[in-house]
Amino acid sequence: MATRFATRQLRSALCRPSRFMSTAPPPKTLPSFSMQGKVCMVTGAARGLGYEFCRAFVSSGCTSLAIVDLKQEEAAAAAAELTTYARANNTDANPEEVNIIGVECDVSSEKSVQKAYADVMSTYGRIDSVVASAGIVENYSAFDYPFDRIKRLYDINVHGAFFTAREAARNMIPQGGGSIVLVASMSANIVNIPQPQTPYNASKAAVKHMASSLAVEWAKKGVRVNVLSPGYMLTKLTKTVLSHDPELQKTWERLTPMGKMGDPEDLAGAIVFLSSDASSFMTGSEIRVDGGYCII
Ligand SMILES: NC(=O)c1ccc[n+]([C@@H]2O[C@H](COP(=O)([O-])OP(=O)(O)OC[C@H]3O[C@@H](n4cnc5c(N)ncnc54)[C@H](O)[C@@H]3O)[C@@H](O)[C@H]2O)c1
Repeated sequence: MATRFATRQLRSALCRPSRFMSTAPPPKTLPSFSMQGKVCMVTGAARGLGYEFCRAFVSSGCTSLAIVDLKQEEAAAAAAELTTYARANNTDANPEEVNIIGVECDVSSEKSVQKAYADVMSTYGRIDSVVASAGIVENYSAFDYPFDRIKRLYDINVHGAFFTAREAARNMIPQGGGSIVLVASMSANIVNIPQPQTPYNASKAAVKHMASSLAVEWAKKGVRVNVLSPGYMLTKLTKTVLSHDPELQKTWERLTPMGKMGDPEDLAGAIVFLSSDASSFMTGSEIRVDGGYCII
């Protein structure tokens, strides 16, 4: 009961209007940034950054969207909320056009990922933009990290991203192309301190180079593969780490030139740019959104 209440509280916070929205008529912007008419899919989207990416797509005109996550109930709940959000905020769309679905999938299982794509293709008939956001982090020193947990982390963060990208490309190539964004991390480029997380850092470096390698394989087939690397953002993932060590947030903020953690909404512009036609000559690239963490 308490959990359900907490979930509802979280949900109403997530359904808040975007801080970039106002009641004034929308300002003119480049049409190439529009997600109108694109079928999108985001893994790990029942909450956290994945959910925020979905909100950004909806705010940019997307009406066909698959929310992929571990539990059907949570994916469906997020889909229902975003449907309400889309009908209220995507003023250009006919409310009947909004078709947002929740899809259960464990990205660490190739079969489960294939089943998710089959569901998406049978619903929409095509797929234009895919974001692989599902991922986990754990903090153990190298000597203490149990091997089964290391393996699970790589199964989700590395193999999950690979399965998600490969099935995306299998479906996108016959239709003429599409955009894939793999969510890595600033940890692909630097070593976080003070918390130990070697397998996580290595997994994100692998995701970054995976994107470059897949980008080369599929460049002439119309499929672009780019990377979004966030710095410290306030989501359930980081809140769990901080719950064990409240002082840690101050350390992270001190190490970040902008002096604060990011709001998940700070990634909205970058994800729409990478997923839309605005980045059509860009593949194998990384965008870091980290408050300047990596430059010092
Ligand atoms: N939050 C940050 O500060 C931060 C920084 C850099 C990178 N990232 C990366 O961004 C991504 C999203 O992180 P977040 O902060 O939103 O995390 P989060 O824990 O808030 O959300 C992750 C989501 O992924 C889902 N998920 C986990 N394992 C899955 C699996 N096997 N199959 C399908 N779904 C699964 C969870 O159910 C959850 O909904 C991760 O890849 C993470 O490494 C996060």
